[in-house]
Amino acid sequence: MPLTNQRFLLASRPQGPATRENFDLVEDPAPEPQDGQALVAVEYLSLDPAMRGWMNEARSYVPPVGIGEVMRAGAVGRVVESRNAQLAEGEHVAGMFGMQRYALTDGRGVQRIDPALAPMPTWLGALGMPGMTAYFGLLEVGRPVEGDTVVVSGAAGAVGGLVGQIAKIKGARVIGIAGGPEKCATVVDELGFDACIDYKAGDVARGLREHCPKGIDVYFDNVGGEILEACLARLALHARVVICGAISQYNATEPPKLGNYLSLLVNRASMTGIIVFDWADRYAEGGRQMVQWLAEGRITAREDVVEGFETFPETLQMLFSGQNNGKLVLKV
Ligand SMILES: NC(=O)c1ccc[n+]([C@@H]2O[C@H](COP(=O)([O-])OP(=O)(O)OC[C@H]3O[C@@H](n4cnc5c(N)ncnc54)[C@H](OP(=O)(O)O)[C@@H]3O)[C@@H](O)[C@H]2O)c1
Repeated sequence: MPLTNQRFLLASRPQGPATRENFDLVEDPAPEPQDGQALVAVEYLSLDPAMRGWMNEARSYVPPVGIGEVMRAGAVGRVVESRNAQLAEGEHVAGMFGMQRYALTDGRGVQRIDPALAPMPTWLGALGMPGMTAYFGLLEVGRPVEGDTVVVSGAAGAVGGLVGQIAKIKGARVIGIAGGPEKCATVVDELGFDACIDYKAGDVARGLREHCPKGIDVYFDNVGGEILEACLARLALHARVVICGAISQYNATEPPKLGNYLSLLVNRASMTGIIVFDWADRYAEGGRQMVQWLAEGRITAREDVVEGFETFPETLQMLFSGQNNGKLVLKV
């Protein structure tokens, strides 16, 4: 019986939020691997805020997804047919397999994963790209030391939740910023942050004054916009601001404004953008440490798994409305 593939192709470039109209869902037979290739049955797909940016025509750190191409997506799955000497049938793998049920690979950029070590969705979260972003972004650029005050936005999310936990391991006082009382309770009670500011309840600046009386030594920014502005206004001397993402701006049609940047001058502070791929040659090191912290119970991995490949466009929106709690993963 030939296997049937389903693929989401980018049909048009969204203006504002991406909707189902921006994609074509096509069905065709799964491709046959040629010499050197393997066929992967995708089991879980990573839904990432960055996907929205990849749909834009603009120049970025990766080329845009072309119109008519399979939507770019990270995923984990199982090799079901192989003509590649490095990939055996039955092996579990992670890679940029795209928003489809079956993917051909020549093995480049594919990582073997062990479901006995952690459940498959965790390989898209704490042991995957968000884990590496949190680990290297915080430790290499944020560089927290014992006693520092570290503030993390998107604190209940995939990257933010891990950043705060790693900062606690390094002996920092950690203040999260998240939307709503439930998420803030999770951030404090389950992830062990010292406090969490509910930005939807109102005044972030007042929360920062209360929880960061000596200012912010490290601000790990996942959201940009007004929350970034409030944090800039509260920096301590020699603070490090890590620009990881700006989800509040991804659907905007106007460029963002930055009003408080002179706080960097006054405080001799730095603001540095990061791209996780720059640490690709050190993922093995970061992965080993994250596996160890997970095994020791020092890090909690949280995934929000939604079932149904066909729901991709609507499920992606959960990231922008804040409906996800932890790393958002689509089960095929
Ligand atoms: N630079 C890199 O290499 C790299 C790698 C991975 C991720 N990132 C970036 O890291 C950030 C977090 O990604 P993630 O995968 O961990 O996603 P996530 O935090 O799991 O999910 C996104 C969260 O953003 C929050 N959010 C949405 N709209 C917002 C708004 N207008 N203002 C404030 N918060 C808002 C929501 O939480 P609330 O309910 O709390 O609002 C939502 O749950 C994103 O900006 C992403 O682009 C960067």
